Amino acid sequence: MAQSTSTTPATAAAEILNTLYSASFTTQLMRAFVKLRIADHLAAQPRSATELAEALSAHEGAMASFLDACTAQSLVTPGPDGTYAVTDRGTLLRSGSALASHVLYAAGPGMNRAYEHIADVVRTGQSGGEVAGQHLYEYFGHHLEEGTAFEEVMSETTRDCLDALVTVHDFSGYGRIVDVGGGRGTLLSRVLEAAPKATGVLFDMPHVIEMAKTSLPTFAPAGVVDRIEFAGGSFRESVPSGGDLYTLKSIVVDWSDEEVARLLGRLHDTMAPGTPLLIVDWFRQDSPSNGGTGAGYEAIGSFSAWTLWGGRLRSRGEFERILTTAGFSVDQVTAGFAPCLFPWNLIVARR
Ligand SMILES: C[S@@+](CC[C@H](N)C(=O)[O-])C[C@H]1O[C@@H](n2cnc3c(N)ncnc32)[C@H](O)[C@@H]1O
Repeated sequence: MAQSTSTTPATAAAEILNTLYSASFTTQLMRAFVKLRIADHLAAQPRSATELAEALSAHEGAMASFLDACTAQSLVTPGPDGTYAVTDRGTLLRSGSALASHVLYAAGPGMNRAYEHIADVVRTGQSGGEVAGQHLYEYFGHHLEEGTAFEEVMSETTRDCLDALVTVHDFSGYGRIVDVGGGRGTLLSRVLEAAPKATGVLFDMPHVIEMAKTSLPTFAPAGVVDRIEFAGGSFRESVPSGGDLYTLKSIVVDWSDEEVARLLGRLHDTMAPGTPLLIVDWFRQDSPSNGGTGAGYEAIGSFSAWTLWGGRLRSRGEFERILTTAGFSVDQVTAGFAPCLFPWNLIVARR
C-alpha cells in the first residue's frame, strides 16, 4: 500500500543515520572553535571574518566559510553589517571553561585514535588505544593539552560527589590515606579537610602528579596541601605502602577483568590485614544473566569505556565478586550515595 505521507520510515531512518555520522564533523567544528579561541576573540565586540582572519593570521575565505558553519550550529550569529557575534552557546566554549576542556580531550586525536579502531576492539578485545600502539593513559602523558584537559574535567566531575562522600563515610579516624589513581587530588584534599589529623598520599602517573603539584594549591587550603605526599608511579607495577585507608575512585571502570584482578591483588599484597579499601564507581544494573541491562546510556558508557581504556561498567554483584575473589571482604555497599547522571556508588571493602 502506498504511503500517505512524503516521509517513509526508511527515509526517516536514513535521515537519523545521516545526522549520526555527520556528528563527527560538528564535533571537530566545535574543537576548532575552541582551539582558535573564537569565543574569546568575539567576547568584547562582534567582528567580521576579515578582522578575525587578520587577528588569527588565518585564511580569509576559509574563515568566512567556517563562521557560516558555526552560525549553522548557533555558536555565532551574523549581524547586518557583516560581523559575527558570539552566542550564549558559543560563549560556553570560551578558553578555560569546563566545556572547552571537555571538547579539547573528548574530540582530540587521542580519543579519536581509539574510536577509529572500534572494529578491531570488537575483534581483539583490546582497547582502541592499545590496538593503535599505546594505551590512552600513556598517550595522555605524551600529549599534555589533551591529558591536562582530561584531568581538569575528571576533577570537576569528581567534585560533585565529595560533599555526599564525606557525609556518608566518616574519614576522621584515619591516619594515612592513599588515593590510588587520584588525578589532581580533588577527592584526597576534600577527604583530608574532613579528617584534620590525617595525612594523604596522592598516587598517579608521573605527568599527572606534576600537574597536581601546580593545580592542587589553587583549589585546596594550604593546611591540606601541606599534609599531602605526591607520589608518581604506575599502579600496574606497585602501589604505595603504609596506608590505613586506600581509595579507588573511577579506576575499576577503566580496566579489564584481568587488569582489575591484578590491581586488587597488588593492593591485597601491600595493605595490612584489616585495612579498608573504598571504591567509588558507577554500577550497571544487576541482571541474573549478564550483570547488566544493556540499555541506553549504560550500554554506550560501557562500550565506550572498553573502546577507550579496555574497561566496562560492572554491576554491584560483579564488584562484590571481583573483590571477594581477590581476598577482600565487602563490609558495606551504598548505592547511589550521590545522585548524578550516573549515580555514584560506594563500596567499603576490607583486606
Ligand atoms: C578516570 S581518572 C580518575 C581520577 C580520580 N580518581 C577521580 O576520580 O577524579 C583515572 C586516573 O587513573 C590514572 N591512571 C591511569 N593509569 C594509571 C597507572 N598505571 N598508574 C597510576 N595511575 C593511573 C589516570 O592518570 C587518571 O588520573
